[in-house]
Amino acid sequence: MGRTSRIPGFHKLSVEERLKIVREFAELSEDEMAVLGKRGHLDIQTADRMIENVIGTFELPLGIAANMIINGKDYLIPMVVEESSVVAGVTNAARMARSGGGFFTSSTGPVMIAQIQAVNVTDPYGARLRLYEKKDEILGIANEQDPILVEMGGGAKDIEVRVIETALGPMVITHLIVDTRDAMGANAVNTMAEAIAPYVGEWINGRVYLRILSNLADRRLVRASVRVKKEEFKGAEEVLDGMVYAWAFADADPYRAATHNKGIMNGISATVIATGNDFRAIEAGAHSYASRTGRYSSLTHWEKDQNGDLVGTIELPMAVGLIGGATKIHPLSRLVIKILGVKTATELGEIIGAVGLCQNLAALRALAGEGIQKGHMSLHAKNIAVAAGATGDLIDRVAKRMIEEGKIRMDRAAELLKEFKK
Ligand code: MEV
Repeated sequence: MGRTSRIPGFHKLSVEERLKIVREFAELSEDEMAVLGKRGHLDIQTADRMIENVIGTFELPLGIAANMIINGKDYLIPMVVEESSVVAGVTNAARMARSGGGFFTSSTGPVMIAQIQAVNVTDPYGARLRLYEKKDEILGIANEQDPILVEMGGGAKDIEVRVIETALGPMVITHLIVDTRDAMGANAVNTMAEAIAPYVGEWINGRVYLRILSNLADRRLVRASVRVKKEEFKGAEEVLDGMVYAWAFADADPYRAATHNKGIMNGISATVIATGNDFRAIEAGAHSYASRTGRYSSLTHWEKDQNGDLVGTIELPMAVGLIGGATKIHPLSRLVIKILGVKTATELGEIIGAVGLCQNLAALRALAGEGIQKGHMSLHAKNIAVAAGATGDLIDRVAKRMIEEGKIRMDRAAELLKEFKK
């Protein structure tokens, strides 16, 4: 029988049984199986409960960005990321920011939106108002789903009903506005949306299809600002101006904005991952918020104040939680929360926003000055040396020589390795 990926009941098998199938499929050696069998901090039983069809766990580096002050308090920022220069960037930029007192934050609170889509409504505008008339009933049904959340001061607080024009005619879209307290809230709001959907369908005589949260969590915004004293740019004043020009470029041009925001997300996603939160939700929220005017643009803003100091700000949705998700389950995420010392999801979200702004400060500082390659090169050269087969002290020797020669390439690493091994 040939190789097939059709494996009925794969999810019901044990980790060992799955491993055996994958081994045969990919013709894995003993050594490769030993790599798959290695275990880190997340034990395999826990991993097997977190997602489906588990065969192992996967590690990434966990680094700490130092120097961060947010709202007058010192924080160490745990970051999980595969890319070099990300942690160094936040550390360096956070040091620069200390001269102006660090970062300052605020937020709108942990408020999520769930959407209920109704189609085939003959009088969508009349239906819209009928739903508003049912607001108390809707909120009541929603809140019955999660008495604990309500007890903690959260729960469904309001509704918003929109009529949208689509390729298939008008649709009535009901938004349920839910305070999810310290949870990211996806489960809570999706359960509420599913519970009220049949009533909505009946009251407006329409066909309800989707009942799901929106990742454009624009009622759950975090904001952060920073002032970098002009003295931080002594001898390189034009770099400060270059950074403001860099912002204007990102503000005006989606091609640049994509990269500018990617740099911001380097910091945000790395911190979100470390805390065990859903980084795709944060990324979807960030990029959709960056497009809210109809043109994709920068998530940050950089300008010069009357002193000539550099002022940066950021505003974006931040749906992160401290309960639910992997945050309480993954042993390292629990430790990360302890290192951060945060007590509420709102505080966590604000910190992550500040890290995004800090990462952007680092990137623009490098890009408007010497460029980013110089900083990247040392770690990059080491990675290339390892990829070419260097081990032990040969890694540093090969990397050092490639940097001196300004040739950081696989072929050169392989040549040098041969030469040094002689
Ligand atoms: C690289 O991961 C991130 C940068 O490209 C961000 C930017 O260009 O602003 C350096």
